Amino acid sequence: MSLAFIDNASLSFGNKVVLRRCSLEIKEGAITCLIGLSGAGKSTVLRLLNGLRMPDVGRVTVMGVDLMTLSKRDLIDFRQRIGFAFQFSALFDSMTVGDNVALPLREHTRLSKTDIDRIVNRTLDSVGLLQAREQMPAELSGGMLKRAGFARAVVNNPRLVLYDEPTTGLDPIITHVLTDTIKRLRQQLDGTAVVVSHDLDSIYAMGDYIAMLFEGAIIEYGTVEEVRRSVNPIVQQFLQGSEVGPIPI
Ligand SMILES: Nc1ncnc2c1ncn2[C@@H]1O[C@H](COP(=O)(O)OP(=O)(O)OP(=O)(O)O)[C@@H](O)[C@H]1O
Ligand SMILES: [Mg+2]
Repeated sequence: MSLAFIDNASLSFGNKVVLRRCSLEIKEGAITCLIGLSGAGKSTVLRLLNGLRMPDVGRVTVMGVDLMTLSKRDLIDFRQRIGFAFQFSALFDSMTVGDNVALPLREHTRLSKTDIDRIVNRTLDSVGLLQAREQMPAELSGGMLKRAGFARAVVNNPRLVLYDEPTTGLDPIITHVLTDTIKRLRQQLDGTAVVVSHDLDSIYAMGDYIAMLFEGAIIEYGTVEEVRRSVNPIVQQFLQGSEVGPIPI
C-alpha cells in the first residue's frame, strides 16, 4: 500500500530546474530513504510531501488527498498529520525544550494543559530527553537538539514523518542512537517515514526502501538490497563514494 505519491512533478526556481517529471511512491508502514547529491532537490521533495511547496506541473497525493486541491487553511490542518524534523532542528531559542515540543499541541489541539504535559513527557521520554525538558535549546548538544526536533515532529502522532538529514555532522555513536530512534518512533507510531540522508550505514540499518534523486528525477528505487545491487553506474558511484564514474563533479 502506498501512503503518498509524487506524480510527474516538475519544479523550477527561476530558470533553475530542480525537478523534472519526478515520480516517487512512498510505501505505507515503511522507511523510505531519499539519497542524492547535494543540491539534487531532496529537501524540495520533502517540502512537496507536506505541501510546503507545490510543483509547477504534476501532482502530489498524500493519504489519498491531492494537495493541490486543498485551500491554504485546509493545507495547514492537513499538515498536522505530517511531522517534519528539519535539518537544523528549528527550535525556538527563547522557549524550553518542553515548550517547543508542546507547541504543535497548544496551537492545533484543544487538549488540556494536563494532557499536553503528559504527552510531552511521554514523547520526550521516547527520545531519551525527559531530563532536558526545562533546558533551553542553546544548552543542548547537536544530538540532543536533533532528538528534540524529532520529539516535536512526532508529538501529535503523525502518520507520516519526514526527516531531513537527521544524522549529518554528528559522531558515529549519536548517529547510531538517532538511527535507532527513527526506527523505533516509526514502530511506535505505526506510521511511515521518509528520511533524507547521506549516511549509508544509517540508511542500511533503518531503511526499507531507497530512492535516488539525480538530475531532477528518481533514477533508482527499490528495497535497500535491490538498490545496493543496482547495475546503474550512477547509483553505484554514489554508493561507493567514488570520484570515478558518470557523475559530473
Ligand atoms: N526557495 C528557493 N529559491 C531558490 N532556489 C532554491 C530554493 N530552494 C531550493 N532551491 C534550489 O533548488 C536546488 C535543490 O535544493 P534542495 O535544497 O532541495 O537540495 P538538496 O538535495 O536538499 O541539497 P542538500 O543536500 O545540499 O541539502 C538547489 O539548487 C537550491 O539552490
Ligand atoms: Mg537538503
